[in-house]
Amino acid sequence: MESQNDIMYFPVDCVTLHDLYDWSRRRLDSSEVVVCGGEARWQSSVSLRSPSRKVSLRTGRLVTVNEQEVALFRYGNVVYAISEHCPHAGGPLHIGDIESLPDYLCVKCPYHGWKFDLKTGKCIHPRTRQDMSAVVYPVRVCPTSGSLAIGFTEFSPHYFNTLVE
Ligand code: FES
Repeated sequence: MESQNDIMYFPVDCVTLHDLYDWSRRRLDSSEVVVCGGEARWQSSVSLRSPSRKVSLRTGRLVTVNEQEVALFRYGNVVYAISEHCPHAGGPLHIGDIESLPDYLCVKCPYHGWKFDLKTGKCIHPRTRQDMSAVVYPVRVCPTSGSLAIGFTEFSPHYFNTLVE
């Protein structure tokens, strides 16, 4: 764990930049390609069955870091981290769609469609609920390995409980 400007960075296990679907490619990817025994096939849904090469699904990834569930999204070489649980009613944000609006990059909650700015966490839609925010975290991406670290201002209260158990 590294610390900088009162932010502690915790490494993300098992997920790197390269494991995340790149949402900046969405317009290019009218469908996903799966390679089966050297033969490329286009399909709208992705099969992960062997011997097909694994292709990232169009979702974020759910990780647990600092004993907190966090949804990760990649847009180009930038990774955004937002609390997994939607502040409206707890919807799973990691399976939400990403929408690129003129001034915002948003995740759209799969439950009721509320949209949250991935940079600030602020609710963008519905406009009447702009008082609500999701928690967002800074993410460091290693330019060589693609490894990730998420920044927190404090240890989760659960962090020490699990160390004692
Ligand atoms: S739970 Fe996310 S919009 Fe309702």
